[in-house]
Amino acid sequence: MQEHAHILLIDDEKNYLLVLQTLLEDKGYTVTALNDPETALAFLHESEVDVVVTDMKMPKLTGQEVLQHIKQFWPHLPVLIMTAFGSIESAVEVMKYGAFDYITKPFSNDELLLSINNAVELAFAHQQYYLLQQELKDRYGVHQIVGNSRAIRDVLALVDRAAPSRSTVLIAGESGTGKELVARAIHFASPRRDKPFVSVNCMALNAGVLESELFGHEKGSFTGAVAMRRGRFEQADGGTLFLDEIGELSLDLQVKLLRVLQERRFERVGGTEEISVDIRVVAATNKDLTKLVALGQFREDLYYRLNVVQITLPPLRERREDIPLLVAHFVDKVLEENSMGKKSFSNEALNYLTGYEWPGNIRQLQNVVESCLVLVPTTIITVDDLPAEIRDEESQFKSAVDLLPFPLDLADTLNKIEAALVRRSLVRADFIQTKAAEYLGISKSLLQYKLKKYGIAGH
Ligand SMILES: Nc1ncnc2c1ncn2[C@@H]1O[C@H](COP(=O)(O)OP(=O)(O)OP(=O)(O)O)[C@@H](O)[C@H]1O
Ligand SMILES: [Mg+2]
Repeated sequence: MQEHAHILLIDDEKNYLLVLQTLLEDKGYTVTALNDPETALAFLHESEVDVVVTDMKMPKLTGQEVLQHIKQFWPHLPVLIMTAFGSIESAVEVMKYGAFDYITKPFSNDELLLSINNAVELAFAHQQYYLLQQELKDRYGVHQIVGNSRAIRDVLALVDRAAPSRSTVLIAGESGTGKELVARAIHFASPRRDKPFVSVNCMALNAGVLESELFGHEKGSFTGAVAMRRGRFEQADGGTLFLDEIGELSLDLQVKLLRVLQERRFERVGGTEEISVDIRVVAATNKDLTKLVALGQFREDLYYRLNVVQITLPPLRERREDIPLLVAHFVDKVLEENSMGKKSFSNEALNYLTGYEWPGNIRQLQNVVESCLVLVPTTIITVDDLPAEIRDEESQFKSAVDLLPFPLDLADTLNKIEAALVRRSLVRADFIQTKAAEYLGISKSLLQYKLKKYGIAGH
């Protein structure tokens, strides 16, 4: 990997430049050698360079000016400065301006190579970090939240408005509705995106462990506390702390959390030193916190502290129009992740998916889509391939019925549904009335009566 590094060499002495270039190229580096610092800066604006090595004393621009220019545009690009023997002061000066290192002429080849090697390693580490950051943003960005229902568009608008501030956000919604996805989207849409997103599940741990998990502990504060440990609050400094399943927090810890939210300060378990943090808190719950407040299981003051911005994720069955979009999204994702060829759900199968109740919401939908794609060998997944509970006929009615708006006129609505079914049966039966009646489970004469009633042409 190191060998592919691109090094930009800047020195006004052409001969010396050539010597260095040959030395570095022999080591396998790609080298661009330029004797004019202004040309070199122009070159930097057009090319990808991993490390810059520049002379200090040059006629047009000094090494220090080159350095300052570079730091302004590419703060992470390592710059190595070559200074003449005896100019230690300016060497100290350039380090202050962010040079990666300096070496004093005359230096040995090994000295130069070692320093360049270190600079390349640093440059690659930064690039790696940057790529990872990008990948995280891609994976958890707002655009990963699929859906076009009114409800989801409202959620996205709220995420947009809430993200730039430090306001605490409370996300409510049934299990699997996307609470964590939204919490991450808020973080990655916020100015804190380059700082940590730290997640704590308040249910997974008992109260004692959770306290030291959140606040950290001092060495010796309890049996087993063999070393000082920073808690999640400290780890999240500058970033976002995601408190999942907040409804499970014990009353005792609720008091402590309230204090941190009010004062942004706390002590580690067994410690006396006050630690202050800059965090944004996002909490999530699948419980109705107002009910817990009424039952005395959740502190009212904490509830109001958390509930500054509230985002409620509706269950999937209340926004069925998102289901086809989500299915398409998960199909693409699973096929790509498993390098599988094209596969899809038949229209009828998709209708069943749209009609199902989805008690486990999007997570359950995702699992069903994935297992069908992986387990069904044919390229088209049909109704017969779906899990039994989804094939249940009842759910078909529900999906149709869920699309009807309230308030409605019951008799009128039932008539419209009946008329629509009669029409569909006729079309399916190619207008053979005996067959259409069979489809509907009624006699031919009753069908004819209904055709007349609804003014439907029977042929
Ligand atoms: N709108 C959406 N678009 C695409 N994927 C989604 C959406 N909502 C949720 N998901 C996916 O569904 C799965 C469940 O979401 P998530 O873990 O955020 O739910 P949750 O509400 O935190 O659930 P739980 O209460 O069970 O912890 C995740 O894989 C997530 O990526
Ligand atoms: Mg969750």
